[in-house]
Amino acid sequence: MNTLTINADLGRHRISRHIYGHFSEHLGRCVYGGYWVGEDSPIPNTRGIRNDVVDALRQLAVPNLRWPGGCFADEYHWTDGIGPRAGRPTMVNTHWGGVTENNHFGTHEFMDLCEQLDCEAYICGNVGSGSVREMQQWVEYLAAADGPMAVLRRQNGRAEPWRLRMWGVGNENWGCGGNMRPEYYADEYRRYATYCRSFGDSQLYKVACGACGADYRWTEVLMRDAGRAMQGLALHYYCGSGRHSRAATEFGVEDWFFQLKNALAMEELVVRHAAIMDQYDPERRVGMLVDEWGAWHAVEPGTHPGFLYQQNSLRDALVASVTLDIFNRHCDRVHGANIAQTVNVLQAMVLTEEGGERLLLTPTYHVFAMYRPHHDALLLPAHLSHDEYACGDEAIPSLSATASRSDSGRMHLTVSNLDAEKARTLRCVVRGATVQRVQGTVLTAGAIAAHNTFDEPSRVAPVPFDAVRRQGECLDLELPARSVVALQLD
Ligand code: AHR
Repeated sequence: MNTLTINADLGRHRISRHIYGHFSEHLGRCVYGGYWVGEDSPIPNTRGIRNDVVDALRQLAVPNLRWPGGCFADEYHWTDGIGPRAGRPTMVNTHWGGVTENNHFGTHEFMDLCEQLDCEAYICGNVGSGSVREMQQWVEYLAAADGPMAVLRRQNGRAEPWRLRMWGVGNENWGCGGNMRPEYYADEYRRYATYCRSFGDSQLYKVACGACGADYRWTEVLMRDAGRAMQGLALHYYCGSGRHSRAATEFGVEDWFFQLKNALAMEELVVRHAAIMDQYDPERRVGMLVDEWGAWHAVEPGTHPGFLYQQNSLRDALVASVTLDIFNRHCDRVHGANIAQTVNVLQAMVLTEEGGERLLLTPTYHVFAMYRPHHDALLLPAHLSHDEYACGDEAIPSLSATASRSDSGRMHLTVSNLDAEKARTLRCVVRGATVQRVQGTVLTAGAIAAHNTFDEPSRVAPVPFDAVRRQGECLDLELPARSVVALQLD
């Protein structure tokens, strides 16, 4: 029998809400058309930023938003994006479609977006094609109360400094961020980070560029040569798409299985990078920030190949739930993560209609909403014993789960059934607490590739879950095939 034993009276580590962070780049229709429509748009907006997108994301309690890239970050020059919009210089976005970037969405607009979302800004500075001085002055522009950059900021309409904490020193500097060797980047990191100063309330949490997937040598060198100068070390891992089909909504059961197997590979990456970090930082002071992750399918037919616009199905919802469970389980080292990328790009929360006004919430959005109670909650140690889910010669766990307790004392449980075709029963044994009442929701659909469209935006959405039977001290859950269940235990 599948059994989950939850130790409700134990637990040492908090699940940082920053694990539920987001990432938005100047890429395709993420910023322009996603968030930014401009003040004169017929689409309802606040100072140019779409109200419907902000309202939807506020429901997720987005803890932080990483910007402006991605690869774009290492060719972005922040001074191009301040001052009167009409006078801002343009540039070519060479990474993403070669389109002209008009810089209408710059520092002030981004910080306004963060204030509207009530989230922290996580800005990634330019190491690849920038300078130390440029990065130093950007921090000063954002966070200093006095001095020449504060004067410039005031001239541009913002008197008070913003509160700034999360700061990335470059992005993928082993690739699009300058093709550096780890030894070289470690030295560059130390040099740049030296001049990223903290001001007043803005005590910087500096994040070094981390490894690509299983490049353990990168982590080793960074921790050895620059570990003492950083608060966080990033890691990027995208779990690709199906085995036979890369299409977001046309795939078979084997593609489903392969996608989830690749998503589960995050566990090994986290464990092995963390083991290296432990050698240099046994106190676990330095956080691992998986500041880019998610599924990467083929673009939707007829869309620009450089815009990475993809649909989002029930399979993506399961990618999200099992990945978040991995981060939750390792929250002693994983201090943050950012799914790529919030609106209209890769594994998005929200899709907006091109040339129209409509918006839809993706299945992945619903998982983030269902997991919201885990933000900053205490991780409850739990042991999950489960059947395997096999496909051909390969097998993966059939179930994945997280149990947590919030400050109010309420317990929350999220469980996913990874099996595309078979329901599973799970017996939950709750030790150290008495459960009087259970209520929850389930996210599933009749087909593995079910997804929401602008005409049918609620095909995949959570509904009440009542398949819970009490067996003495235990709870038996009947988990539908291909489902994510979220429960509140009182
Ligand atoms: O998210 C898309 C791209 O993937 C980012 O710009 C880059 O950092 C990564 O390779």
